[in-house]
Amino acid sequence: MTTPGYQSGFGNEFATEAVAGTLPVGQNSPQRVAHGLYAEQLSGSAFTAPRHQNRRSWLYRIRPAAQHSPFVELPTKAFHNRFDEAPATPNQLRWDPLPMPSEPTDFLDGLTTMGGNGGPADQTGCGIHLYVANRSMDGRFFYDADGELLIVPQQGRLRIATELGVLDVQPLEIAVIPRGIRFRVELTDGEARGYVAENFGAHLHLPDLGPIGANGLANSRDFLTPVASFEDVDGEFELVAKFQGGLWSARIDHSPLDVVAWHGNYAPYKYDLRLFNTIGSIAVDHPDPSIFTVLTSASDTPGTANMDFVIFPPRWLVAEHTFRPPYFHRNVASEFMGLIDGAYDAKAGGFVPGGSSLHNCMSGHGPDAASFEKASAADTSKPDHITGTMAFMFETRKVIRPTTQALSSPQLQGDYYECWRGLKKHYKGNA
Ligand SMILES: [Fe+2]
Repeated sequence: MTTPGYQSGFGNEFATEAVAGTLPVGQNSPQRVAHGLYAEQLSGSAFTAPRHQNRRSWLYRIRPAAQHSPFVELPTKAFHNRFDEAPATPNQLRWDPLPMPSEPTDFLDGLTTMGGNGGPADQTGCGIHLYVANRSMDGRFFYDADGELLIVPQQGRLRIATELGVLDVQPLEIAVIPRGIRFRVELTDGEARGYVAENFGAHLHLPDLGPIGANGLANSRDFLTPVASFEDVDGEFELVAKFQGGLWSARIDHSPLDVVAWHGNYAPYKYDLRLFNTIGSIAVDHPDPSIFTVLTSASDTPGTANMDFVIFPPRWLVAEHTFRPPYFHRNVASEFMGLIDGAYDAKAGGFVPGGSSLHNCMSGHGPDAASFEKASAADTSKPDHITGTMAFMFETRKVIRPTTQALSSPQLQGDYYECWRGLKKHYKGNA
């Protein structure tokens, strides 16, 4: 079964044309492209990257991407990559959701940087941002030269019109826009809120499955890439580029979404998190949360990710004699969490949809006191079905350094640490 408007598969070699007879046969760059179009290659990896990591697409478009006025640097606002503003903190941090803006705000203006690590200059690490918006991007387009964007809607549907086609994305789905691809975000429901990881490192990829086998977790066939669709529109538009942490604006006299046909494996995609094949223990204990990895960005160290995107979806808990919520832990990696829907099973309160938390390298965390007491008393001879929930984690190798605006945000919960203060001392000695 195919989904109308999309092509199925992760990182496949796609070929799509909105006007029949556009794609050249047997070559990429003919002397004259059909219908008077220009040929342009968009490379997302080094030309010489190994074949399984090589990403590029050939675009057949009305005008080449080079045609626009010079960029002018914009003043920096809330969306940036300044991760050295404040001392990185070992404190456990948690935030309430950002409120909807009172002024007209589109997706781009509504981005607020919470923290990050690495940066676009050295092409490692990631930026972590929130967005709130109450209007569509109108007359302007955006591309991010610094990283690919993993967009996690929490409220409101998005129509993401890209050079390579249109992605309709709703909460419980994610979208990935590769580095450099130009797009416009329209709101379907009037208001929208969500999370964005800006991955400066290696492309997000499906994790290897090891002994799990050939199937499981996020299956390749469930990733959807749009078919070609284009705009042939002249007018006064703005093209905003994110480049080395800053935003730049150029005038452009036509819509850059003018790609009539394309082929290749460098393209935006979406994925429905409800299709994730969740795997867990059917005996005792439970696997580390890496078993919930949807997408991973490799680092130079085998087995150690630059960043992982991990979800905590609805699932059955059946492990006997086991403390079933996530265990108390400290981790060399750093963890930024968000909640898309429902409640998270390790917290009885305080972590609400649209909210966020940060537990950095070696900062102790885990279930709050109420969740611990409940799980410790649970009858584990019976299965527990966790439903109506979807939490996620951006987990990174490097410490996530919160921005000044995140640390001074009115949404920061100053009393978060108290959720563990109620954990009782049960030890009674060797009596
Ligand atoms: Fe954790």
